[in-house]
Amino acid sequence: MPRKLFVTTALPYANAPFHIGHMMEYIQADVWVRAQRMQGHAVHFVCADDAHGAPIMIAAEKAGKTPQAFVAEIAAGRKPYLDGFHIAFDHWHSTDAPENHQLAKEIYLALRKNELIASRTIEQFFDPVKGMFLPDRYIKGECPKCGAKDQYGDNCEVCGAVYAPTELKNPYSTLSGATPVLRSSEHYFFMLSDPRCVAFLEQWTGDGRLQPEVANKVREWFAKDEQGNGGLGDWDISRDAPYFGIEIPDAPGKYFYVWLDAPIGYLASLKAHLGERFDTFMADPEVEQVHFIGKDIVTFHTLFWPAMLKFSGRKVPSNIFVHGFITVSGEKMSKSRGTGISPLRYLELGLNAEWLRYYIAAKLNAKVEDIDFNPDDFAARINADLIGKYVNIASRAAGFIGKRFGGMLAADVGVEGRTLLDGLRAHRDTVVELYNEREFGKGLREIMALADRVNAFVDLHKPWELAKKPGQDAVLHDVCTVCIEAFRLLTIYLKPMRPALAA
Ligand code: MSP
Ligand code: ZN
Repeated sequence: MPRKLFVTTALPYANAPFHIGHMMEYIQADVWVRAQRMQGHAVHFVCADDAHGAPIMIAAEKAGKTPQAFVAEIAAGRKPYLDGFHIAFDHWHSTDAPENHQLAKEIYLALRKNELIASRTIEQFFDPVKGMFLPDRYIKGECPKCGAKDQYGDNCEVCGAVYAPTELKNPYSTLSGATPVLRSSEHYFFMLSDPRCVAFLEQWTGDGRLQPEVANKVREWFAKDEQGNGGLGDWDISRDAPYFGIEIPDAPGKYFYVWLDAPIGYLASLKAHLGERFDTFMADPEVEQVHFIGKDIVTFHTLFWPAMLKFSGRKVPSNIFVHGFITVSGEKMSKSRGTGISPLRYLELGLNAEWLRYYIAAKLNAKVEDIDFNPDDFAARINADLIGKYVNIASRAAGFIGKRFGGMLAADVGVEGRTLLDGLRAHRDTVVELYNEREFGKGLREIMALADRVNAFVDLHKPWELAKKPGQDAVLHDVCTVCIEAFRLLTIYLKPMRPALAA
């Protein structure tokens, strides 16, 4: 039975061009999606820019632009990366698009109707010069424990203490330098602590749909101590103006916190892609909803997002596929700036996009493990596998087929060749299974082991020597035909990684 799949990658913040971490996520998802499509499954694969939030609003202001113009510029630069690396999204959208405004409001109102929205007055730091409430990351001061200067509002990088921003000594706003003042304001909360949410999430996260290490982490968030403290807390989903976001219905001057409308952007993008078919598609119980994300955004995708969907009466995700982080030569990538290697620069240098696809895929598995891009290892791997093993098979045979046999393969091949080819075909199910399980590294080792068999056949028969011997034309034709057919089969196995070469 063909599967019906709705697949997304995380929506990148629209404040910077892509870095290699983004490309790694897109490559992982794209390889998986292509493997599904090759099996005849129907896939809608979408993404979008995550446009909202205070950091983007502030970055736009610094650049002297409206937030809309700022994110539009970033969005306009996405295509060369996506096309360049053969990422086959069906649609790219924005969380600031009308579909998202509408869906976010609908979902919020449904949650409110379900009595899962509460309002509470909270006290927060306010920047009197900027005239805005300050997110924690824009407040610095002296550590309440060790007195170290210029520490962030949540923890001290010198002594490691964890605290609330209100505990900082001599706090200041990093936006204006002003001393923040405490101000109260009404906030809206999604009541994740409601027994209905807790029961649903315990079931949804515990039924085997998550990777084991992710499920274990999630279980810790549910745990309460003997006094009954801990466990899931309610989630603050509102922010006060000025804010670049979506206005909350019936609450003038209040906006949805960016993480409320960001995942709804998955639906908005699909809706823009499917048009009128969207509602019917999402109502189909056979449709599987799958999100590829990095390990840093698991809470949002395993707690808030499924609960939002469930209690607004929508389809809940079938799977959240979590990957680790990529480093470049052991160095961490900065979330917004990116370091080490620019994906666009890689293309400009004339390097083959599919080498990076292959290299990254070769390092990936179904676990939440970090991987490293190492230039020397990269070159060695591409040379050994793709050139030495895979392309070698075709290059040993194609010339003779062209020059000696008028570009025609033999109508049939002998027993030895047939056995070899049948052996390659027999691995189809294993290869497919490894793609489906996101065990790309294992899959490629499997494929390369098959390439080794073919190379052993080449080395045994030495077509370049056969070509010199009189009366060996039929044997040469046979051997070269086997090679070309083997190359075709291996190409099919590699196609999710190397779609352009396969084409
Ligand atoms: N905007 C949010 C996601 C909202 S989803 C509704 C966000 N954006 S991000 O641009 O910071 O990250 C986008 C994706 O890239 C995330 O899945 C993140 O984990 C991933 N990565 C960011 N840096 C990465 C690496 N160095 N390596 C691999 N993936 C990384 O989070
Ligand atoms: Zn300290």
